[in-house]
Amino acid sequence: MVTETTAQPDANSPAAKRRAEVAAELANKTMYELLGSEDGIKAIVDSFYDVMDRDEEFALIRDMHKADLSPMRVSLFEFLSGWLGGPPLFIERNGSPCLTGAHAPYNVDEQAGELWVSCMNRALAEAEVEEKYRDLLAPAFERMADMVRNDG
Ligand code: HEM
Repeated sequence: MVTETTAQPDANSPAAKRRAEVAAELANKTMYELLGSEDGIKAIVDSFYDVMDRDEEFALIRDMHKADLSPMRVSLFEFLSGWLGGPPLFIERNGSPCLTGAHAPYNVDEQAGELWVSCMNRALAEAEVEEKYRDLLAPAFERMADMVRNDG
């Protein structure tokens, strides 16, 4: 039986309130819309590759990418558009949402995955994405990065 004493200890914490707020918003809107639709997602993607290009600590993953990051800005935008509930642009162009083949030539191990997620978290903060959305996105990106890993 659930009583007050067995309720989640953090039920009234600021983080729990933020989660509840986003859950209510998601009843009427997609995450794509909550993040600002096309302009909002493009701002996140631009921030992601700007951070990767700028901050030395991401050199390991920056060096895996081609010198020109502009095609990746388009690809990641198209992927995230569909992944976040907006137009499925990546699938329309590639026929599949699968990212395994795209990453096969690279050594995407635990360290690379952690760097990718850390780069994305910094990008979300720099793009001034609200904390309540970042709370939800961070673990979702972590799961995606784990799926992209190809070190066994
Ligand atoms: C886990 C660490 C990851 C590493 C090290 C990594 C690295 C890379 C590299 C090196 C490329 C090719 C870049 C180029 O052609 O210049 C690429 C492509 C791509 N990555 Fe990742 N990636 C990671 C995770 C992710 C995640 C989590 C997502 C999605 C949320 C993602 C989405 C994409 C997309 C959409 C492409 C382009 C695919 C295409 O156009 O066919 N990657 N990635």
